[in-house]
Amino acid sequence: MKKNLILNWKHHWVDDWVEYIPLLQSYSGLLIAPPVALIGAFAQLAHPQQVISPYLSLRELGAFTGHCGAEYLKHLQIGAVLLGHSEQRAELSAQYITQQLYAAQKQNLHVILCVGEKNPHTYQKELLEQIVSIQSHPCLSLSIAYEPQWAIGTGHACTPELCHKAITFLKEHISYASNVKFYYGGSVSLENAQDFLELDGIQGLLIGRLSQNKIAVKKLIEVLQERESIISEKDV
Ligand code: PGA
Repeated sequence: MKKNLILNWKHHWVDDWVEYIPLLQSYSGLLIAPPVALIGAFAQLAHPQQVISPYLSLRELGAFTGHCGAEYLKHLQIGAVLLGHSEQRAELSAQYITQQLYAAQKQNLHVILCVGEKNPHTYQKELLEQIVSIQSHPCLSLSIAYEPQWAIGTGHACTPELCHKAITFLKEHISYASNVKFYYGGSVSLENAQDFLELDGIQGLLIGRLSQNKIAVKKLIEVLQERESIISEKDV
């Protein structure tokens, strides 16, 4: 299975952003969620399906200054929207995130929904709360990024064991989980990336801080490509 690497630049300025274009061209499993201001540029310079919008407003096309809605993103032919990131959950209500989910679905945009607990001891309860909307309204084109909030930007990644437990728990509670792809994010480093990639049922990694380091991204692409070639050799 080809694994993906999602770069989440958040609202950071990345000086050498243009130099990420050849990286995207070199590995189709590399996806990028740039700041909104760069979505159009990436969609034009790289393959739009490798571009993810980290923002979604609820407006349709029209006289709505300052918005960027699902229909607009659809015109750019981008690959997906990233919703429910903990940095957004801190600012948006759960109801608003649900509306974003529906707006994306209406335009058949793939949704990458971030979920993750604040407290590792109550992860089951917190995760259940965050998947209520996708349980009641199945989202046909969905990925879930498990990102424990305590692991994001702290340098303290989740253990692969807990990650596996949490993803298994999510799978048990989403009736259509066989159609859903799962990612891990939260303090992924060059040292721990491989451990997460080896987990069963993980489609890839979502990286924040590390994504601004082009050399590190190149190294991770090499890891992914090497993995792929070993797997295809085994298949021969
Ligand atoms: P981090 O961020 O890799 O810097 O922890 C991950 C994320 O916020 O998606």
